[in-house]
Order: sequence, then C-alpha cells, then structure tokens
Amino acid sequence: MSTSTPPGSDIEAASPSGTRPRVVLGVSGGIAAYKACEVLRRFTESGYDVTVVPTAAALQFVGAATWSALSGKPVSPDVWTDVHQVPHVRIGQAADLVVVVPATADLLAKAAHGLADDLLTNTLLTARCPVVFAPAMHTEMWEHPATAANVETLRSRGLFVIEPAEGRLTGKDTGKGRLPDPDEIFELSVQVLARGASAPDLAGRHVVVSAGGTREYLDPVRFLGNRSSGLQGYALARAAAARGASVTLVSANVALPDPAGVTVIRVETTAELREAVVAATASADAVVMAAAPADFRPTATSEHKIKKAADGSSPSIALTQNPDILAEISHDRARPGALIVGFAAETGDNTGSVLELAAAKLARKGCDLLVVNDVSGGAVFGSLDNEAVILGADGGRRAVPHGSKAALAHVIWDEVVSRLQD
Ligand code: CTP
Repeated sequence: MSTSTPPGSDIEAASPSGTRPRVVLGVSGGIAAYKACEVLRRFTESGYDVTVVPTAAALQFVGAATWSALSGKPVSPDVWTDVHQVPHVRIGQAADLVVVVPATADLLAKAAHGLADDLLTNTLLTARCPVVFAPAMHTEMWEHPATAANVETLRSRGLFVIEPAEGRLTGKDTGKGRLPDPDEIFELSVQVLARGASAPDLAGRHVVVSAGGTREYLDPVRFLGNRSSGLQGYALARAAAARGASVTLVSANVALPDPAGVTVIRVETTAELREAVVAATASADAVVMAAAPADFRPTATSEHKIKKAADGSSPSIALTQNPDILAEISHDRARPGALIVGFAAETGDNTGSVLELAAAKLARKGCDLLVVNDVSGGAVFGSLDNEAVILGADGGRRAVPHGSKAALAHVIWDEVVSRLQD
C-alpha cells in the first residue's frame, strides 16, 4: 500500500495475507469504553475483521454481549478460554493493527513494562503490527510523571499514543484526558494501518496547519467571508498526526470534529489567525497555510447592527488590506530550517496561466513549497477530492492526480519530510 493512498472509510488496503485486514480492538476499563462501541462499528461497517479483546475491568462498563454482537465473534478477557487455540499468542501474531480504546493509565503502564496478566496485555506483547493507544483518564492521571514516562517509552518504541482531547471528563470537571471523537480515532487508525511498517516519519516534530476561512465583521451580525470548508487543512492535520507529529491546527470557522490527537486553536478573524499562527510557528518544524484568510477587512467595524437608511441609499464599505501571514512567516523565519508551505487557488487570467501565476506567487511569498489548485469554476471548495501541483522553491515540481484530500495531504507531508533537516 502506498503511503499516499490512505484507505479512508473504505478498505482499499488488504492485509499482508491478502484477506480483510485483521484489527484487534483492545478495550481497557474506563468509562469511555462505551465510545469504543462506535469505533468498533466504524471498523466492521467498513469491512474490517475485528476481534474485540476487553479487559475484565472494561466488562464492568460494557458487557461481553455488546462486544460479541457488534463484532460477530466470541469475546473473552482472559487466556483460559479456548486454550487449545492458544489465543494469548495467536490473536496478536495474526493482527494487522491493534487499537486500544480507551487506554487507561493502568493499561499504558502494563504495556510500557511488558506485563502480561490477561488476554489484552498478552496480545500487545505478541503483536508485531502497528499499535495505536487512545488514552482517556482524568487530567491528574494523564499528567502524572509515571504516566508521562510510560507514554514516552511506548512512543520511543514506535507505537502511537494519541494525545487526549480537552473537555468534559466523567463528572462535572473538564480538562485534558477526554477520549477524542470515535470517528476520528477510526480515521487515524486506518491511516496508521495503511502506512503499515513505515516509521512514523514526523515523530518528534511539531507541525502547524491552518484551515478554514476567516470572517471580517462589519457589525455584530454581518461579516465578509469565503467558501473555504477547512477539509484540506483538517486532512493535513489528521495525516500529520497519523505520521506521529505533534500537531497544532489553527482553525477558522470550520464545522468539523477535532482530528484525534491534534491541538485545535479556534479563531475567527485574520488578525486572530495571524496571532495564533505566528505564536505556534516559533516552535514549528513545518507550517502549512491551508487556510483562506480574507485579504481585506472593513476599515471600521460598527458596534451596533447597521440599519438600512430611511432614504433607501446603500452604504459603501471601506476596506483595509489584511497582513499576508504566509509572506510574513516566510520572511521572518522564526525557526531556521522549518519548512513553510502555502496554497494557491488560481484560475489563470490574461497575465498568465495557473502555473505561471503560482510560480510568481511562490517567489513573492518566499515559502518553500506551494500547493497549486486550479479553481476555475469553484472546483475545490467543499469537495472531498482535490488535485494539485506542488511547486518547490528548490525547483521541484510534482503533479498530484485527482484523489482524496487525505491522499494529497500525505503527498504534501512526503514532500515536507524529504526536505526536513535532522
Ligand atoms: N495567505 C495568508 N495571508 C493572507 C492571504 C493569504 O497567509 N492574508 C496565504 C494562504 O493561506 C495561502 C496563500 O497565502 O497559503 C495564498 O493565498 P491566495 O489567496 O492564493 O494568495 P493571495 O496572496 O491572496 O494572492 P491573490 O492576489 O492571488 O489573491
């Protein structure tokens, strides 16, 4: 399976044995176990062969009947059922992917130290395929030095430990430790599976992605905006997370769930987008400006709703040009060696073709790579697909044929990774 064609929600990848990919869904004992049912459904409905391995504590939250009915297979937490089939070795050896949802602090500790006192921990020791842990616990437990050290150990072995989300926890408290959206755990997991034995080549890297379209307010209820859906930026953030990066996603007015393991900063205006991107860029190895910041804002924003004039006359709106964030971070180079990627939506005109205008934009903005979309006829906005040409300041040029935005995202990261210095 090529790294540039992740399977999305349909199986395009077969397991190495040529059959349906075999996924082990491990479930440890946390209240978020009920959300693992959704992850299980996404896998089974997409055609994966799923074996659920709950711990005894997980069965206190969701019973064996639920896992068995949803997976179509018998379920046991211990190694003493069907011993003649040697399940404690066979299940892990045969797996193409192991995903643990939720992973408790206890399970992470056992996995980091190689304990094997039930079927799930035995499976983790015998699996040689990619392993994804989706932790969920209270903030104190996640931040405890013991848990932090265990997570570090697991990541240093090339295993994926998804950064938990922030939000409502079991009780009335909120904080870091919430399980990410089940659909997003599924999307990340299938991308990890599609990459197979490839090393997580963005592990240890911090990347920043901007997404969506900014709003510039005329008054408290009206704004100037644009048609950017944020889909390409979210696909980039998801793909980077699946390659092991620590990802900051600066999101302008996007109505999509947070990608699993990604830190999302929400903004509305170009000024807010600029502030968030510039701040995150200081520690970034790569920045991808997939957002569509408004080029202009109203010179003045009315504090009150603008009323229609009694004489029927139309107001005129004075506009001021917004700062060009891509040009600013490309020229400032806050972190030498960081790769900066821009997007160009072009239609071509009487001064030049799409690629001629894009080449001029690459030089003008000073970024390292420019992803060029031909948007004649509004082709890209809101679509799940994309096609592009990636131009490099180093003279590189790569045409990416029509495909999913996820596939384009992986090609962009391929180009970034090939240019990152150690
Ligand atoms: N961009 C930015 N800040 C702005 C406008 C655009 O950082 N104020 C970034 C976008 O995120 C994108 C790239 O610049 O990565 C190209 O955006 P585009 O709208 O195609 O370019 P413009 O500079 O607005 O040029 P044009 O005159 O063609 O509209």
